[in-house]
Amino acid sequence: MAERDWWLDERAYAGAEHLDPAYVAAYGSKAGFDPYPDVQLLRDLGSDASQTLVDLGAGDGTFALAAAEVFGRVVAVDVSPAMLDVLRHRIDAGRTANVEVVAAGLLSYAHEGAPADVVYCRNALHQLPDLWKAVALDRIAAILRPRGLLRLRDLVLSVDPSGVAAVVEEWLDAAPTDPRAGWTRAELATHLRGEYSTFSWLLEPMLARAGFAIEDASYSAARTHAGYLCRRR
Ligand SMILES: C[S@@+](CC[C@H](N)C(=O)[O-])C[C@H]1O[C@@H](n2cnc3c(N)ncnc32)[C@H](O)[C@@H]1O
Repeated sequence: MAERDWWLDERAYAGAEHLDPAYVAAYGSKAGFDPYPDVQLLRDLGSDASQTLVDLGAGDGTFALAAAEVFGRVVAVDVSPAMLDVLRHRIDAGRTANVEVVAAGLLSYAHEGAPADVVYCRNALHQLPDLWKAVALDRIAAILRPRGLLRLRDLVLSVDPSGVAAVVEEWLDAAPTDPRAGWTRAELATHLRGEYSTFSWLLEPMLARAGFAIEDASYSAARTHAGYLCRRR
């Protein structure tokens, strides 16, 4: 097949900061989170050492490393060489044997081996415009075995267009001023202008179109983030 010169360049859309080694070195302290509630959720749903999890947009691997305590095989995928370097160091430091690192993206990862039981994707899908989100979700469904799970978390606005301004202003007003403590107002504004957070009422039909049943949907009180537990039909 001829090279698809129309296919989205994932590195170009990855967010310049994610490619910057200095930013990535401080990423854990700025954007660290507790992966264990989602690990526990998956364990409660039957995940165990016989299963494979693919983490798409794995970043510095906080979730992938925690998931490796439960899953027999974890594949951590990211387009950022800087993120993957940090993750490889963490894997070496923890002598973690069951996390594979793959330099690829939502639109380019080619899964090998048995189909995945679970795909995890946190705060990465918003890097893609909506057309490509839908393509990415379709590709995720193809990675999963039938009845496999997608745990998707992202910046998703659960509000009507007329309510966007109020929700965004409240969100930005609550942002920390110290960039080491989280995303500042300026960083969130840059995200909103230049990246692709979408609406829950657009994302949810995309999930259905890709062949997922949404078993659980939760929305942050600020209506800026959503979490989905989806099962491939
Ligand atoms: C905000 S970080 C989230 C990282 C991690 N999932 C977490 O929750 O901490 C977004 C990550 O998505 C990666 N990314 C950006 N575009 C991507 C794409 N098209 N496919 C896969 N990963 C992508 C970035 O390199 C970055 O590591």
